[in-house]
Formats: sequence, structure tokens, C-alpha cells
Amino acid sequence: MGESMKGMKRSHYCGEITAADIGQSVTVMGWVNKRRDMSQLFFIVLRDRTGLVQVVVDENRAPALYALAKEIRGEFVVAVTGTVIARTTQNVNPEMPTGEIEIDVAALRILSESELPPFTVSDENVGLDMRLKYRYLDLRRPEVQRVMTLRHTVAQSIRRYLSESGFLEIETPYLTNSSPEGARDYLVPSRLHPGGFYALPQSPQQLKQLLMVAGLDKYFQIAKCFRDEDLRADRQPEFTQVDIEASFVEEEDVWAMTEGLMKRVFQEAMGIELETPFPRIPWHTAMERYGTDKPDTRYGMELVDISHLPVIRETAFQVFAAALENGGSVRGINATGCAALPRKQIDALVEIARGENAKGLAWINLMEDGTVKSTVSKFFDEGQTGEILAAFHAKPGDLILLCADTHETARLALGAVRVALGKRLLPEVPTEFNFLWVTQFPLFEYSPEDKRYYAAHHPFTAPLEEDEHLLETDPGAVRARQYDLVLNGTEQAGGSIRIHRQDLQNRMFAALGFTPERMKAGFGHFLEALQYGTPPHGGIAMGLDRLVMNLTGMASLREVIAFPKVKDGSCPMTHAPGEVEAAQLEELSLRVQPR
Ligand code: AMO
Ligand code: AMP
Repeated sequence: MGESMKGMKRSHYCGEITAADIGQSVTVMGWVNKRRDMSQLFFIVLRDRTGLVQVVVDENRAPALYALAKEIRGEFVVAVTGTVIARTTQNVNPEMPTGEIEIDVAALRILSESELPPFTVSDENVGLDMRLKYRYLDLRRPEVQRVMTLRHTVAQSIRRYLSESGFLEIETPYLTNSSPEGARDYLVPSRLHPGGFYALPQSPQQLKQLLMVAGLDKYFQIAKCFRDEDLRADRQPEFTQVDIEASFVEEEDVWAMTEGLMKRVFQEAMGIELETPFPRIPWHTAMERYGTDKPDTRYGMELVDISHLPVIRETAFQVFAAALENGGSVRGINATGCAALPRKQIDALVEIARGENAKGLAWINLMEDGTVKSTVSKFFDEGQTGEILAAFHAKPGDLILLCADTHETARLALGAVRVALGKRLLPEVPTEFNFLWVTQFPLFEYSPEDKRYYAAHHPFTAPLEEDEHLLETDPGAVRARQYDLVLNGTEQAGGSIRIHRQDLQNRMFAALGFTPERMKAGFGHFLEALQYGTPPHGGIAMGLDRLVMNLTGMASLREVIAFPKVKDGSCPMTHAPGEVEAAQLEELSLRVQPR
């Protein structure tokens, strides 16, 4: 039920009316956020995208409208024409941007009624399932609308910057072939090609490179990417990349362009001046100092390798000695100011280390009074403990956590512990934005289960020129011209300089264990294209959802996507994925095997 808008035209948005409009006649339209019947005076708070405004209906002056107002319920859509009047001093609401005024109603129309909604829009304690099932109601919340607005501002800023920098916005198909980024593909069956499938792109990687072969020189796209992988707070099966590629560029060019882009986005969306260039560290250094390839540099607590200390080299403590004997290391971290951490919380840190396959953690508490409590006091006397503490520049109040294992496990375990310790220090909504380039990743990752190498990024990434000769003999040692842009400990963007020679691309596929037949079947068109004059090129892709998540300090990507998926990949609102009619399957030449 509801009337038409005929004869009424919106003159203002609710949130935009101020004391400067007093005396003016205005027409607003929006949702009923709140209603209050004060006998003879009826107040309606109207909401639209811009905010709230209060409307007052006086029974004495407008008895018919007063009767109509009494029918109004929450979330009704109404149109109101009236005069902007000042509120009496005691009624001014300083919490509301429009709190100095209200609208004295002259015409009121119910445009649409609402059932009792499953939750009150302003209620902040609604469960996730309900919020997403009724996402269109959830999206009415001002906080959520602010995020959507910010996302728009960021996207516009990106488009302007890239366009001004000579990049062409070009769309690439979603119905395409598999382009490996390390996840499973979403497949779309073809009606016209029984048994044939399109793959939704995990990224437009090959297509953007083909645009460079095509001579389009500089490309960008705000592209949807699809990856069938397990969801996490920072991973959605369908997400958005700002995808970029340019010809005749090297690392420095891509970095400078990306830094300029970030600078612009932060200026326009956040009013923040970023300092550029961003710091850069090689992957190996990141792993050594932070135990992760995406270090959060907002806090210190860097990892220290103490394997070389005489007290460690000569120790009788079997756990440490064994690690060194097996070619591993003893590393640690100074959890500054954590000496008094309750045992339970230290145990939780040990569990985090175990989660990274470490066998355990040893710790030394240097108490405020200078005394030492240590799980390894049996093995290290006071002087030796002092030597270990000195290696960490420990001060009273500090807690030293030690891990003995293979280099890799010790680094990863302490890296995870460091992140957990850092969380205690950081505000929920970031006030600082630390960017960092991590460069020269390994080109390959070895999988002990499959006994083969995988491309660490994707198979189109070029090796460092000085490492090229190792492709066949020592693939594990080859460094890539790959870079990630890290923001506050999250991977914000990743890219590389590409292989632009067919011979090198062939060697790369061979190193990955592709037979010539498989190469041809999977990438024949691509390898062929490389033969027809390929410019040196490189690029990057930035997670747009992740960027907005970082800017807003939201804990999950769900909060920055209008219609997100939940953990099992489904949509609580549309119930996708759903079953289809038998006839549709038939048309696609598909049969579903009962599970
Ligand atoms: P990559 O796989 O590193 O690179 O992806 C680039 C960026 O996309 C974001 N991202 C995601 N965001 C949300 N949910 C996901 N499941 C998800 N996966 C990735 C991250 C990441 O940094 N074609 C290459 C880029 C290139 O080489 O130019 C690529 O896709 O922020
Ligand atoms: P234990 O000799 O087994 O009693 O171990 C002494 C201490 O060393 C305990 O606090 C263990 O948690 C710790 N520890 C065990 N394994 C490791 C390891 N790989 N690295 C560092 N500390 C460890």
C-alpha cells in the first residue's frame, strides 16, 4: 500500500537541511527511522542516505495529517513537505547534524508501507546471518552506507588518477579460460559446446598481458575475480581487483605509479598525506626480520637469530642443540613490556607457534625488579641468560620468546607470535597506514607432497636476470621480479615484471613440470602471442575490497562488499548456489551425481 509521488518533488536530502534553511519550504523523502507520539505533537525522524531529520505534526494545526501520522510505522517510506523551523533551545539535539531544526509539516504522504522488519535498522547487535539474509535492511544503516560511499570515492579516485596517467580502462571477459592464480576455478558449462566449460577468471592476468602484445600500452580495469577457495576474513570467492598493466616498464616504474595512486586515494578518500616512496625490503629480509612476507611495520619486536651466540652454540639444552645440528636455528623475539603476561596468555602464544608447526617456545621473563623467570633456567646460568637477554636488548619488564627449529618454521612461528603480540598494541581502527614493498620473492615454491615446484605468484612472472641460469639446475634458488605491496600487515597488492620472451616462458613451464602437450593445451594461444612482438611489460593488481577494509578498519571483507558471501560460499539472501531445473541440466548436457 502507498500513494504515488505525483505532485511532490524532493527538494532536499534529509541530512542536508541546516539552520540556514529556516523559513524555507522543503520536501524530503525517506524512511521512518523513529516515531514519537507526544499527544497533540507527533514527531517523525526521517532517514535517507545523507542522514536524519525530524518532522513535527501538530494536531491542533493539522488534525488530518496528525491522524495520518498516527498510522505510520518504522521503515514506512514517506514524503513530507513543510517549513524548516528552529527547535526550541531545550529541544536542540547536538548529536544530530540537523539537530537545530525540524520540519513543520504542511503535506504528508505515505509512499510505501513496511511490514514489521525482522530487526530494527539502528540495532547494532543483530547476528551476521540475519544481517546478510536481510542485507537490504542492513545496508540502510548509516555506518554501512558510509562504507559504501567511501568505496565509491576510492573507486572514483582510482579511475581519475589512472586515466590522467594515460591508462585505458578496458574490460575483459568473465566467460573465459582458466588462468591459474593458485586457486580452483569456478566453471560455467556451455550449452552450445556439450562438455565444454568456461572458467571465470581468477584474474585477468593473461588477457591484460595480451593487451600489451596488442600495443595498448597502459591498461587498467576494476575487475571482478573469482577464486574457489576457502573463505577467510580477508578472502571472498568473488572479489574486486584494480588490475593494471603497462608496457616498457621496470619495477621502479610500477612502484612509482602505484605509490602515486595510493597517495591520491588517501588524499581524496581520507584526507591523509602519504609519504612516498614507500620502504622496500627483499622477501628474504622480510622473512628474517618479521617471519612473514607481509610484515606489519607499525610496531617493532623484530625477530633475532641467536644461533651464532656462543651460549647457544655450546648449549647442552637438547632442544636447541638438536635444532642447530639439523641445520636449523634458534631465534627469538622480545615481547617488550610483556614480562608480567599471565601464564594463560603465554600458553596461548605457544599454541600460536605450534599452529605454525613449531614444537614449542621457551621463554625468559625479565621482571620489573630485575629478577629472571625462565623455562630454560636449568640449562642457562645467570651469566648465560644475561648474554641471551643482551642479544634482545631486553629491559626489565620484557619477555623473550625463543624457538628452536628449522629456519623456516622458527621464522614462521615467531612471525605469527609477533602478529599476536602486535594486535595487543594496535587500535581497532587504524590511525597509521604503513606501506611496504616486499620484493624479490622466490619464483617457485616446492611442494613436498606433490614432489614438484609451483609458481609462487603465477607462471608469467619473470625471474631476476642474474638468476635465470638456475631455472633448470636450482629452481628453488631463483628469485622473481615479483613485488607485493603490504599495508599494515595485509597483502594489499601484488604484481611482477613479466616474461616477454617465448623461450623463457617455455623454460618456465618446463620447470613447472608441464609437458609440451600440456603447455600447448593450456597456454598455446598465449605462447603463440608471445611470438608476434611482445613489449617488455609488467603490472600489478590491488585488492579493492581489502583496501577499503584497511581504510575503515573493518574486521572482515564482508563489511565492505554490498552483497557478500558467507563462510561456506553461499549467499544467505539469495540462497545461491541453488538447485536448477532438470531441463536446464539437460540443455547443458550435465547430470548431477547424488552425494
Ligand atoms: P594476486 O593473486 O596477488 O595477484 O591478487 C592481487 C590482490 O588481490 C587481492 N586478493 C583478494 N581479495 C579478496 N579476496 C580474495 N580471495 C583475494 N585474492 C586476492 C589481494 C591481492 O594482493 N594477476 C595477479 C596480479 C599481477 O600479477 O598483476 C594477481 O591476481 O589484495
Ligand atoms: P623440556 O626440556 O621439554 O621441558 O622443554 C623446556 C622448555 O623448552 C619448555 O618451555 C618447552 O616449551 C621449550 N621448548 C620445547 N621445544 C622447543 C623449541 N623447539 N624451541 C624452543 N623452545 C622449546
